[in-house]
Amino acid sequence: MMERFAGRVAIRIGDVIAPLPVPAPIQNEVDAMWRAVFGRLDLPALRDQFFADGEFLMLDRLVPAALVERALAEIDDARPTRSKVPFVRAARHVGWRTLQRIAPISTALYKSSVFIDWMTELVGQPMQLKHPSDDHACATYEYERAGDHMRFHYDTCGCDDGASYSQLLSLHDRSTQRLVVDLHTTDGKPIERRTLQTLPGTLTLFCGSKVWHAVSPLGRHERRVILSMSYATDPSMTPWRWLYENVKDALLYFGPLSLIKGDR
Ligand SMILES: [Fe+2]
Repeated sequence: MMERFAGRVAIRIGDVIAPLPVPAPIQNEVDAMWRAVFGRLDLPALRDQFFADGEFLMLDRLVPAALVERALAEIDDARPTRSKVPFVRAARHVGWRTLQRIAPISTALYKSSVFIDWMTELVGQPMQLKHPSDDHACATYEYERAGDHMRFHYDTCGCDDGASYSQLLSLHDRSTQRLVVDLHTTDGKPIERRTLQTLPGTLTLFCGSKVWHAVSPLGRHERRVILSMSYATDPSMTPWRWLYENVKDALLYFGPLSLIKGDR
């Protein structure tokens, strides 16, 4: 009975915001961009590198600057929700439900079948979009105050271990802030730490439960904006798990109102 209750609440929350379709010309343009940039890459070699590094790969300045700037302009028109958990994280966010309404380029980047197919080839498992009402499916992380950061963590996003994959696309970086990753924390190999600058257009791909990662504190008068995209090999969740993830996201990222009407 309680499971049925949780299911009903989950369905009501999930149905509040119906996603708008991406205008076809924008989706076509973004698909063509992914096709062009991936066409220049050596997928088998990158797959070897991805697995040799414990399911981690960084593609420096992959997305053309002009498209990145347009995606950033969409985000700049949004009203992000600022969240801070002392000693854990501090940043501003725009969640997936809002992005689908106000950011067609970001939405097209995440939903592109070309991107999903390439990721599926790279990882060797079918990548699937997360639920349209999952604010973490695709969201912005905007570090804009001195000290903004993210403590070390794994991305599991409510999925089983090894089932959730994160893609971080840098939209803006005028900062000394760095993405810090520890590779091989779960495969028994010697742990390797990398401290990485993510210039605009750079795409970072990794398995969320295998790469221990953090974001170093932002310096004064600096700004760094990331579009975080998340896919799963099996995006299904029990109603209780779904509710837990939504309440957690509301408290830690998108604000309590996100539970009933999206993060904005
Ligand atoms: Fe993360």
